[in-house]
Amino acid sequence: MAITMIMSACTPKLGRQSVDDVVNAMTTEEKVRTVVGTYTQPATPPEVAPGVTNRADYPGSGENTALSRNQVPGAAGDGYAVPRLGIPAVVYADGPAGLRIDPRREGDSNTYFCTAFPTATLLASAWDPAVVEKVGTAIGDEVHRYGVDILLAPGMNLQRNPLTGRNFEYYSEDPLVSGLTAAAYVRGVQSQGVGTSVKHFAANNQELYRNGINEIISDRALRELYLRSFEIAIKSAQPWTVMSSYNKINGTYASENAWLLSTVLRDEWGYEGFVMTDWFGADDPVAQMKAGNDLLMPGTPNQIDELLTAVESGKLPMEVLDRNVKRILTILEKTPRVQGYAYQNNPDLEAHAAIAREIATEGMVLLQNNGALPLPAGQKLALFGNYAYDTQPGGSGSGYVNRAYKVTLDQGLEAAGYSLEPCLAESYRNHIADEKAQLPPEYFWVVPTASEMEVKACPIEKTAAQSDAAIITLGRMSGEGGDRTATPGDYLLSNQEKQLLSDVSRSFHALGKPMVVVLNIGAPVDLTGVEKWADAILLAWLPGQEAGHAIADILSGKVNPSGKLSVSFAGDFARIPSSRNFGVSAGEINTVRYEEDLMVGYRSGLQVPYPFGFGLSYTQFAYSNFRHEGDQLFVTVKNEGKVAGREVVQVYVEKPALTPGRPQRELCAFAKTALLAPGQEEEVCLSLMPVQGIDTRAQWAGDRWQLAPGHYRFWAAASSADLRCSLDWNID
Ligand code: BGC
Repeated sequence: MAITMIMSACTPKLGRQSVDDVVNAMTTEEKVRTVVGTYTQPATPPEVAPGVTNRADYPGSGENTALSRNQVPGAAGDGYAVPRLGIPAVVYADGPAGLRIDPRREGDSNTYFCTAFPTATLLASAWDPAVVEKVGTAIGDEVHRYGVDILLAPGMNLQRNPLTGRNFEYYSEDPLVSGLTAAAYVRGVQSQGVGTSVKHFAANNQELYRNGINEIISDRALRELYLRSFEIAIKSAQPWTVMSSYNKINGTYASENAWLLSTVLRDEWGYEGFVMTDWFGADDPVAQMKAGNDLLMPGTPNQIDELLTAVESGKLPMEVLDRNVKRILTILEKTPRVQGYAYQNNPDLEAHAAIAREIATEGMVLLQNNGALPLPAGQKLALFGNYAYDTQPGGSGSGYVNRAYKVTLDQGLEAAGYSLEPCLAESYRNHIADEKAQLPPEYFWVVPTASEMEVKACPIEKTAAQSDAAIITLGRMSGEGGDRTATPGDYLLSNQEKQLLSDVSRSFHALGKPMVVVLNIGAPVDLTGVEKWADAILLAWLPGQEAGHAIADILSGKVNPSGKLSVSFAGDFARIPSSRNFGVSAGEINTVRYEEDLMVGYRSGLQVPYPFGFGLSYTQFAYSNFRHEGDQLFVTVKNEGKVAGREVVQVYVEKPALTPGRPQRELCAFAKTALLAPGQEEEVCLSLMPVQGIDTRAQWAGDRWQLAPGHYRFWAAASSADLRCSLDWNID
């Protein structure tokens, strides 16, 4: 008895004694289990005496016990607990647009819904880190209150090509926009005392063959594009964790890549959190440990066996295992579970819905408007398109959110005081209900949508005569596990959609009535032709559960649109440089060569229908007095129109090239004005050093960043193709 008491008094506990003391008190088996998730091992082992290594003592070992069910059902994974050392099983859950957990639990009448916020591309299209931080804070609050410790978000791979199935989970084609948006999101979530996992590190730019694709990328493109966004987010916001990606980069799996995870991430960038794999990523746990991939998720018995054998044989040095365990425990010390937080499952979903609605309006982009918008109050609207009645808040896959409801566009317009042409509304609603009754129910991996309805029951001419305006909503769904295709109905408009656009446009225009197109999509489509049929085009993205209200807020003019494209709408797919090497390169198996190098998105210099950074407003802004002081640029923006609005100001730099094949101009700073009343002006300040140690004028010079000497020209711009004032500057 006396001996036991002395032993327990000496046992260090995480959060009370130092992490070193805790690691020193761990058995080899406890260490190995700590670096492997508990998908197939119990999250809480039986109380075993130190030194017990017989794996048979762990009931359930080797079975799919899916132990996260014991803690937060629907979470993506759990860590391993060592209760005698005060290490709890922490909970990891998705994902970018809101927390993904199961909304219902067996034998429990309570619900556990989360808020579906606007998806990532919309957030980035707000060009306003402050509003993104607000979303992050609200998501972090739900994570905390629902008993999750680490959120598996944000997703921040670059949108290299419009067909990537997960683009809606990612921010932008530009690393500065992506990095600063992610940093704001991380700051927001982590302000609530829970962690984030920036993912997928790095270059997870396609879903096709994602588990084995070998991406051949130049050092320069990696540094300036694919790693740069992570560098910005990591240096400025220190996410608790980083999730390595599935793919290989230049021949080595990201999770087994010591150059990526140790040399760049830690030695160069000073990263102090821990790295986890993506779910079941790669196949050599020892190589992963050595490379600096500290945690293997969700964890398998084979990984435990292999690691234990490798420690015994000396293939995996104990110092490496200790190092990784220490990194994990150093972060776990901060988690709500170790801090003893008693979660109550009580987030304020109503307040968060209001934030979701407000932010959705900040990132929607008005692509065209000949004066048709805003729609006068109280009009009767002819609402065409399935997506108007079955508006989609987000994409599918791990980025899906189990929300309590979604507001569709028809509901949003009615709530805003518009009436709907009844024949169309009834036909669409019946059609969708009938088809959905035959489709499998929606769950995170698959979101079935009805086929587009043929408008037969309500003749379009008659509808035009009986309504004030037409709205056609076109939609696209995509998700994890597959890419999109450059075919009709996906990247291209289908013949049916074109026919509808042309028929409705003809009938309404014949009566002098406008036709508005709303796009409920997560990534670009080829809009060729739409501009000639439509009076106005509103890109609503996948705007979260308050979709219908938020779209109605813009259409009615309650909110003046201020979003701008965080990704180019380039039209013809074949012209996009990365399209020549998307999925797999010609003649290769499992290899894709990033031959476009730096020429991604607007950097390619292509003239495109809707360029990066473009977006209209119900007012107009004038730019003047572009000047610089040190690393800061200033420009005065004046609202010259009749309604209040916000303007996204961008600065592009033309710099002397150190190596051939550089883009002509690159984004080096951006800012958004406050809401400016008509006639009001603001001097906007833009920093060329948004994060300590990162100069956005620099370029990768073989082995380091360099500010090339020579002549620089800066443009204050309303988009990448709308350059307003310039400033020349020599750097010695
Ligand atoms: C996805 C990750 C996600 C994880 C856990 C993987 O399939 O790629 O983004 O966080 O699953 O759900």
